[in-house]
Amino acid sequence: MVRKTKKLYCGLGWPTIFTHIRFFTAPFEKLEKLVPKKGCIIDLGCGYGIFSNFLGLTGSKRKILGIEFDEKKIRVANRGVANVKFFRDDITKIKLVPADTILLIHVLHHLNSLADQEKLLKACRQKLKKSGQLIIAEVDRKPVGKYWLGWLVDHLLYPRDRIFYRFPAEFKKLFASLGFKVKLIRASQGKPFAHVIYLLSKR
Ligand SMILES: C[S@@+](CC[C@H](N)C(=O)[O-])C[C@H]1O[C@@H](n2cnc3c(N)ncnc32)[C@H](O)[C@@H]1O
Repeated sequence: MVRKTKKLYCGLGWPTIFTHIRFFTAPFEKLEKLVPKKGCIIDLGCGYGIFSNFLGLTGSKRKILGIEFDEKKIRVANRGVANVKFFRDDITKIKLVPADTILLIHVLHHLNSLADQEKLLKACRQKLKKSGQLIIAEVDRKPVGKYWLGWLVDHLLYPRDRIFYRFPAEFKKLFASLGFKVKLIRASQGKPFAHVIYLLSKR
């Protein structure tokens, strides 16, 4: 399905190259295994929709909604996968619909402030169904070399963004204070950047 997802983005120039880079650098395959095979899934800040479409292709019973505020990206994201829909909006301002799974894949640190991160996490908690899960992929501090490589690429690819990293100890405290139970999974192995995945459920 990785190959099939990459095929969806063939002939698009930069998004084609970026899709290959994303599968090489991000823990998409590990993340996919953590996402339930059915239910309503919202991918917040979905970018070109690479992971949303990958989820759609790997699970036909998943109903996926990708949201992204960059108009160019959302146009590319729509690759015609039947169970994946996209729309353009600011995830810090929209009213979310109830969901079984909410995804924030390398998105929190791109929001405009730490306060926006907290506001969005609260909104996600509210809209998660009772046994739902919020799945977050973020930057890890270790291994140090992989962290700095990721830092460099984040600043090169998003020169206009201020980047607001938080690391596991701080995130764990924040999640607990917002009423989440959290399981942490390190996901840097085999990847050039340092990744950590947080699986959050309501306490
Ligand atoms: C590093 S990219 C990750 C994209 C995608 N989740 C992935 O894993 O490939 C972060 C994305 O979040 C989007 N983003 C940042 N702030 C946003 C906001 N307030 N509303 C919607 N999208 C936002 C950016 O435009 C960017 O596409």
